[in-house]
Amino acid sequence: MNTTDTLIAEIEAHSAHNYHPLPVVVATAEGAWMTDVEGRRYLDLLAGYSALNFGHGNRRLIDAAKAQLERVTLTSRAFHHDRYLAFCTQLAELCGMEMVLPMNTGAEAVETAVKTARKWGYRIKGVPAEMAKIVVAGGNFHGRTTTIISFSTDPEARADFGPYTPGFEIVPYGDLTAMRAALTENTVAVLLEPIQGEAGVLVPPAGYLPGVRELTRERNVLFVADEIQSGLGRTGRTFACEHEGVVPDVYVLGKALGGGIMPVSAVVSSADVLGVFRPGEHGSTFGGNPLACAVALEVIAMLRSGEYQARAAELGEHLHRELAPLKDTGRVTQVRGRGLWAGVDIHPRYGTGREVSEKLMDRRVLVKDTHGATIRIAPPLVISKEDLDWGLAQLRAVLGA
Ligand SMILES: Cc1ncc(COP(=O)(O)O)c(C=O)c1O
Repeated sequence: MNTTDTLIAEIEAHSAHNYHPLPVVVATAEGAWMTDVEGRRYLDLLAGYSALNFGHGNRRLIDAAKAQLERVTLTSRAFHHDRYLAFCTQLAELCGMEMVLPMNTGAEAVETAVKTARKWGYRIKGVPAEMAKIVVAGGNFHGRTTTIISFSTDPEARADFGPYTPGFEIVPYGDLTAMRAALTENTVAVLLEPIQGEAGVLVPPAGYLPGVRELTRERNVLFVADEIQSGLGRTGRTFACEHEGVVPDVYVLGKALGGGIMPVSAVVSSADVLGVFRPGEHGSTFGGNPLACAVALEVIAMLRSGEYQARAAELGEHLHRELAPLKDTGRVTQVRGRGLWAGVDIHPRYGTGREVSEKLMDRRVLVKDTHGATIRIAPPLVISKEDLDWGLAQLRAVLGA
């Protein structure tokens, strides 16, 4: 067995099999490229599910992290620290909101949004105790906690993990009539991904998000946008909601907020909404730690320049222009997405998403399949046009196009 096979056999013996990774063992990475333990270079077209929007080893982010490592890394929220105010004010400003509640992982931020909406419902809206309902969409992916998988429609995510948390109603994604029918006086929030990532980069029909915005405003329901994967530059705007001119009541952020260095997530909203929390009602030892704040502050500064959003928009247009003809060849049945983000459904005659991902790996391109037939393309936003073109040429070669 070679080094890679030996390592993978050992990993499989010592790690729970909760993922099905491609058989590559990465040792180093820079920009849009990763190098494995045997020195082979691969083009990264996944970018850690958008956690690496700014690329591997981004100099500005590494420097910000290193500088903070030498100062102070953790205080817990038992004490204030001197990076916290800037983090809260600058993130709130980026979102056009007022207050921030920091957490670490995406799932924790979604949990925080669920708790925020329920507490707001009881304290402000006046929903009777234990009656709060949150409306979500079929095909959603918001994380892996027991509460979050309680409102998943993916049998793999749910099976054998019950009993499930009540208080959620699932309606079809993109269906405004179903959304309208689901809202009652006990509905505290609608929780949606403005583009469904794990579902295969599903963009809802034009008018859907503005429709949800109007309905939620009319019915005094919080519109909570999970922009953990779609936000922070990926789609060519800071937030995917912006494409439809929508401002939600609550943003849920994660992934790229930590610059690919560490988990940083947050719920961002108005003082009316996040003001519902009192000491002891919610928290996290690591949420909002100095190192996280220093990295996120650099991420926010980079996003403020608009440079990454512009790059995602420009390269994204190119990506979709290049992918569209694959549909005409019949090798691909659908291409969806926005900005530098695409879901490509492979015609079954040309292999499953997994098989195509493995063949791409043999050609030194890394992507990840989802839901059987789909591959996702979401390179770091710093990828060069030449590298992107080379990656797309490998995809065409794998599909024989
Ligand atoms: C839209 C969305 N929400 C939440 C999550 C969960 O984030 P995490 O894996 O950091 O818990 C993800 C992760 O893929 C996601 O795409």
